[in-house]
Amino acid sequence: MPTRREFSRASFAAIGALAFGRGRWPGLQSSPTVNGARLNSHLKEMSRFGANPQGGVSRVAYSDFDRQGREYAIGLMRAARLEPRIDAAGNISARRPGTVATLKPIVFGSHIDSVPEGGNYDGTVGSLGAIEVAQTLAEKGVTTRHPLEVVIFQNEEGGTVGSRALIGELTDRDLGLTARSGKTLRAGIDFLGGNVAELGSVLRKPGDVAAYVELHIEQGGNLEREKLDIGVVEGIVGISWWDVTIEGFANHAGTTAMSGRRDAMLAAARFTDMVNRVITSEPGRQVGTIGRLSALPGVPNVIPGKVVCSLEIRDLDNAKIERLFGAIRAEAAKIAEATGTTFSYAITHDSKSALTDPRVQKAVETSARDAGLTSRYLPSGAGHDAQHMARICPSGMIFIPSKDGISHAPREYSAPQDIVNGANVLLRTVLALDAAPWT
Ligand code: HGY
Ligand code: MN
Ligand code: MN
Repeated sequence: MPTRREFSRASFAAIGALAFGRGRWPGLQSSPTVNGARLNSHLKEMSRFGANPQGGVSRVAYSDFDRQGREYAIGLMRAARLEPRIDAAGNISARRPGTVATLKPIVFGSHIDSVPEGGNYDGTVGSLGAIEVAQTLAEKGVTTRHPLEVVIFQNEEGGTVGSRALIGELTDRDLGLTARSGKTLRAGIDFLGGNVAELGSVLRKPGDVAAYVELHIEQGGNLEREKLDIGVVEGIVGISWWDVTIEGFANHAGTTAMSGRRDAMLAAARFTDMVNRVITSEPGRQVGTIGRLSALPGVPNVIPGKVVCSLEIRDLDNAKIERLFGAIRAEAAKIAEATGTTFSYAITHDSKSALTDPRVQKAVETSARDAGLTSRYLPSGAGHDAQHMARICPSGMIFIPSKDGISHAPREYSAPQDIVNGANVLLRTVLALDAAPWT
């Protein structure tokens, strides 16, 4: 079985006269295909912005590298005959008109910011893949009934900030939080060319968008292990983050007896171990992580009087996240008692889990099949802007394999052919959504 069904110029020409220019796509068996070499060369170019010595990128949101990458993407959008603009939330979006004035846009895209010491594919494949789809449609003269909108959401890695702004979920408190770049979200949005005072102008309500679809790397090992081309995402996990502050008492590390200490670091170590125990104490796919920790004052000869660490919990069931957090707090109270410390918690991010729309799932599945690709349904353990878009419109995601399931690390890798496959499925899915009676 071919991994990819090449588009035949002859069949394209034969149906072209019928389909193009009239805003209808009559049959989805045949479809134009993206320029795979161009897409992969764009990805390579993008990896220059924030390139790190380990071979990945550190392109954290609101950094100079983020802005440079965005400028590069804007240039690609223009070359794709799109007219990009930066909205008040700092997202980049570009619209391509449709032929039916009353129809709402089909939106597709992803993000180009990365975690510190991240890889070259997370978000970038979906962003540049979306631009490639728009360019292919422009070059082939394909018109659609719906307007199409390519979007690059800002600061996905710092808590899906751009997409939360779009659905009106970014609060004043959020805007005051400090991002990994060191800037507050408020300052970061301005830095990207947004306008916090006008944030209301980006708001999309249910009914404003016909559908949203996002191409992304799997970031796990299922597709590679099962030698499958495409993942049809069923649902996206909820993610909650807390800053946990542990207060003890800073004292001389040489003169304070072991029995007389109120060591915040010791409490943090027990807390870390306990989180792992609580999370793994029941069946399921839930995960819990302490990803950041600082001990103060942070010198060898002082017992840490204070530790601030992050706590992250993920699951497809939001209620389970809350329940696990409750169990962790109860266990932490015992650690506090035993170590003479106190624990306090401040929630810094809360993304609800979301199911994708079965009709979009079907469109992705059918598009993969029609492209001669194998697929399976699977959940996403990573968070995505799609989970917020799912609150206002039918949404779905297309996954491609990640080598060794590695992501958020410089060794993140997806093969060029898999990237091309994903972009072709995105293209077909957009056309299928455009033709669907329910959009
Ligand atoms: O953290 C996440 O799951 C996503 O990659 N931002
Ligand atoms: Mn990520
Ligand atoms: Mn991502």
